[in-house]
Amino acid sequence: MKEHVVVLTGAGISAESGLSTFRDADGLWERYAIEDVATPEAFARNPELVLDFYNQRRRQLKDVEPNAAHRALAQLERTHRVTIITQNVDDLHERAGSTNVIHLHGELTRVRSSGHPHLVYERGYEDIYLGDMCELGTQLRPHIVWFGEAVPMIEQAAEIVPLADHLLVVGTSLQVYPAAGLVELVDVGVPVTVIDPGEVQTLSHARVIRESAGTGVPRWVEALIAG
Ligand code: APR
Repeated sequence: MKEHVVVLTGAGISAESGLSTFRDADGLWERYAIEDVATPEAFARNPELVLDFYNQRRRQLKDVEPNAAHRALAQLERTHRVTIITQNVDDLHERAGSTNVIHLHGELTRVRSSGHPHLVYERGYEDIYLGDMCELGTQLRPHIVWFGEAVPMIEQAAEIVPLADHLLVVGTSLQVYPAAGLVELVDVGVPVTVIDPGEVQTLSHARVIRESAGTGVPRWVEALIAG
């Protein structure tokens, strides 16, 4: 029976691919106000500003590549059962080859009807504009979980973490709930490893590897496979 590795990732795992994190010095929330671009009220108040914010991030995603951390986690599937629970909206885990990815905060490459949330469409790296409508005639919006909105995938994620034989936490400041609360669900005695060059408030019994994802994750995966 293959051991089950559950990986909780955040923006830091995509930093070395060239995508901004949120709360680092040059982070997105240093340049934009959350209430202007990442809430339902913002979309109602100024939909063009919100659509442009995500159009810019979607265009950038087309021009970047997965890094060694994403690739190492994909390779781990050869010897382990791997579930990736990501807060990221980029598609870099999938493009690196990971096959079991849960996006807690949505996906940049998908859009959905603002009037009928079950109508979700693949959009790839294309822009969406005011006036782009779903098949039932309501405005398309990014398929992103905005602040104040429900996190539909959290129930599924909360069922998976207790099944982990190893929990790996990479590139997240663990400041946003309910995602951050997932680390509390791991079974007693299950090893928890945090890979992050910065300070992360996390479980007291976690092993912290103060390295970048691109360096730390391949090393961690190699050691796990070597047993
Ligand atoms: N390798 C690993 N970790 C890194 C790297 C790197 N090269 N560079 C930065 N980090 C770490 C930072 O030290 C920090 O702990 O990545 C983390 C980034 O934290 P945040 O910017 O807060 O990103 P994240 O935790 O993913 O944010 C959670 O907040 O704004 C919302 O919905 C958004 O999903 C996002 C959520």
